[in-house]
Amino acid sequence: MVSTGFSGRRPLPREETALNTPPTGGVFLDWPGKSRARSLAEKPEKGLLEPVAEKSVNPQRAPHLFLEGDNLRILRLLKKEYARSISAIYIDPPYNTGTSLAYFDRYYRRQPTPRSPDAPAAPLRRDDSPWLSFIYPRLILARELLREDGVIFVSIDDRAVHHLRYLLDEIFGPENHAGTVVWRKKVVRGRGHRHLIPQTEYIVVYARSIRLLRPFSEPLSPEMISEYRLSDDRGPYKLIPLAKSGTAHSPRPNLVYPIEAPDGTMIPCPTHQWRWSQQTLLSRKDELEFRKNRRGEWVVYTRQRLYPDGHLRRKTPVSLYDRVSTTDGTRELKNLCPGAVFDFPKPARLIRDLIGWLPLPEDPEQETLVLDFFAGTCPSAQAVLELNHADGGHRKFIMVQDTPVDGRTNILELGHQRIRRVLSLLGELTPHAPDGDFDNLSYRTFRLPDD
Ligand SMILES: C[S@@+](CC[C@H](N)C(=O)[O-])C[C@H]1O[C@@H](n2cnc3c(N)ncnc32)[C@H](O)[C@@H]1O
Repeated sequence: MVSTGFSGRRPLPREETALNTPPTGGVFLDWPGKSRARSLAEKPEKGLLEPVAEKSVNPQRAPHLFLEGDNLRILRLLKKEYARSISAIYIDPPYNTGTSLAYFDRYYRRQPTPRSPDAPAAPLRRDDSPWLSFIYPRLILARELLREDGVIFVSIDDRAVHHLRYLLDEIFGPENHAGTVVWRKKVVRGRGHRHLIPQTEYIVVYARSIRLLRPFSEPLSPEMISEYRLSDDRGPYKLIPLAKSGTAHSPRPNLVYPIEAPDGTMIPCPTHQWRWSQQTLLSRKDELEFRKNRRGEWVVYTRQRLYPDGHLRRKTPVSLYDRVSTTDGTRELKNLCPGAVFDFPKPARLIRDLIGWLPLPEDPEQETLVLDFFAGTCPSAQAVLELNHADGGHRKFIMVQDTPVDGRTNILELGHQRIRRVLSLLGELTPHAPDGDFDNLSYRTFRLPDD
């Protein structure tokens, strides 16, 4: 049996892991039970984690971890050794149905039944406080675990997004809201909605410190790459007009000036302003290209390189995501684990794209830990494994999943099954894997006994 020694890390000094003082000022959400919920994040955790050999794959060298048990207790344990160590957290918490039904395992609460079987059931009153009390201490601990340049992605639907934003604003600070992704999760219409058919949900993104969170980027699409048709000794490029498109109410005077064409004539700015100042223009002259349009007028362009610094150009992601749907998530799980029954597993591709927005560390020795403490069927583990396989990264996953109470399915087993299947598929793709890859293809499992 080990204490928190599953990580091989030394516990951090106490003051370093203490909860930060909550921010003052601003608008905070209050509900019955809030201060008790907050105190749960601070409660010391004495639990012990023990290795589960039969649920581990090549455990001697495994970088990845699967931790079984209640995530509140496990987050408290993780805090002892992983405070400010996690690069990215993705979570998909049980959604707030507002009806106090079993939307999370340990907070299972039944509806009061009507007094007489003949009496009409009173309309259910929405009660958000159990969900808020459930999620609040876990989000506080999540922040404690993040590196200073770390980020959290939280999947949520529109019944709870407003509450979640208030909680995250309070815990992380509103200035650290990096944005909210709207995920188009289905394209079919579906039944049972009289007013609006929900086709979208959200992924709310907060930085531990927005100043330190490095810019997100993603690969260009093949269509975008095909636009770089021109080429010179510095490689492929495309032309972008120097004249700024769109309109501005007040053009900046330093961006409006005539430019001298190759034949000595002067080109006035054809729109409200150029994109570059005269100073920039002088210092980046070799990036300019002059071409004549059909009317014989000069047009000024800048060359945008496909490999600006030796690496393939990437782009900043947009807040609308529609590459995969819940149907893809279900299909993917069934392909990996035939017969699996689980409502709306997240597609691994969605999480892979989110995690892939983060640049890999410049220092290859620096760890990139990715935590999901509502792991479910573990699409996040799949996402990390596939991303490492694709780009040679050394991200390590930490999955946390409770012992399930859902009678239909053994969620824990589904998670393990998915991971083992992905490991074996990736292993087949890299039969002569170098050592690093072999390490990527293994994981260790620990469990909180008596949980
Ligand atoms: C919405 S599901 C996550 C699904 C997952 N993203 C997937 O695609 O498979 C939430 C998961 O959190 C687990 N869970 C709920 N309460 C938990 C707790 N206190 N500790 C650990 N896991 C918990 C549930 O068993 C469920 O599998």
